[in-house]
Amino acid sequence: METVRVDLGSRSYPIMIGYGILSDFGRAYAAKELGSVAAIVTNPTVASLYLDPVRAGLEAQGVSSTVVEIPDGEEFKTLETAGRIYGELIRAGLDRRSCIVALGGGVVGDTAGFVAATYLRGIDFVQVPTTLEAQVDASVGGKTGVDHPFGKNMIGAFYQPKLVYIDTETLMTLPRREVVAGMAEVIKHGLIRDEGLVQFLESKIEKVADLAIEPQQLVGLIARNCRIKSDVVAADENEAGLREILNYGHTVGHAIEAVTDYTVYKHGEAVMLGMLAAGRIGVIKGIWNPAELQRQNALIERLGIPSGARALEPEKLIGRMASDKKARDGVIRFILPEAIGRAVSCDTVKKQEIEEGIRYMQKCSPEPD
Ligand code: NAD
Ligand code: GLY
Repeated sequence: METVRVDLGSRSYPIMIGYGILSDFGRAYAAKELGSVAAIVTNPTVASLYLDPVRAGLEAQGVSSTVVEIPDGEEFKTLETAGRIYGELIRAGLDRRSCIVALGGGVVGDTAGFVAATYLRGIDFVQVPTTLEAQVDASVGGKTGVDHPFGKNMIGAFYQPKLVYIDTETLMTLPRREVVAGMAEVIKHGLIRDEGLVQFLESKIEKVADLAIEPQQLVGLIARNCRIKSDVVAADENEAGLREILNYGHTVGHAIEAVTDYTVYKHGEAVMLGMLAAGRIGVIKGIWNPAELQRQNALIERLGIPSGARALEPEKLIGRMASDKKARDGVIRFILPEAIGRAVSCDTVKKQEIEEGIRYMQKCSPEPD
């Protein structure tokens, strides 16, 4: 078991990471002295695999739980779903001492976290992430929220969990496409903050994506990513500056998700495409060197560049970017790499440079089968 601490003064919390530790969740929950009534928010896919040990572990510690299932899919990360969860919590009588346990991927975690931030003006919550995306990124750092038809994550709150509890064995049931999508955030973390991680991926990215590494190595990899994210979050919790670097690949990525109605690309796949575009913009701006762009692209190619991006209309993507949360006064902001392991925020990217980045990303993306 490894523990990474997210240092945020009175809102600090541990991220506990181990292989095959789900049945011990109840003990970790009890040790944090959280409420004796919990609502486990999950979806049917995850519930069928992992609800029983989580529930039994809580029960063994005298914690009674109610289960709230939400439908599976990004299209359900909405205010409507949040509204349904509030209803279930009220019906079950959850009060201010109660706790929400988010069991699932980033969709469950973001939605349940938003509900926790707003139900009765905020109750405790715990993340038990079960996808790679959520274990290395979404469950850490307190960004919670839901999508709006006009844009992704447009409604939300910064609200930190009390505990993040990661059983890396849960990844063994995750479809390969989901693992590959989660790898986008792992690559991103290396590119913005940790050249050693990039070198590690260069040595064995296929094995990692096949989860064909030793359990201890998998735990170490997840912990390394959580450490990168928690260091950034501890330095800039509310994204006044440094935290923006975590959005590398997301300016174009979020636009791709939005113009395709969140149904074509997984979040991580869109981020991969976004990194191709932003990396190229870095080179156009003279901030990044082309050889390092090639190193980035080689990693993405080894996972498989998501196909079909040639069909996207650059004008539509740019329109979406202008209304994204990351835009300020209509100026589109990009995170650009300066070197492998270092990135900066840039708000002077011209429309023509964005178009060139998008066209480059489209050229890299294969036609669909
Ligand atoms: P997801 O939550 O939709 O999960 C992907 C799929 O895997 C779902 O079908 C889910 O039911 C299934 N699943 C989950 N765990 C499983 C398991 N162990 N075995 C088998 N199937 C399993 O998607 P995601 O990639 O986890 O998360 C994407 C979401 O996270 C997006 O909405 C994105 O915006 C958000 N996100 C948030 C942050 C943040 O900081 N809050 C960071 C990154 C991403
Ligand atoms: N996923 C970006 C962030 O948490 O800031």
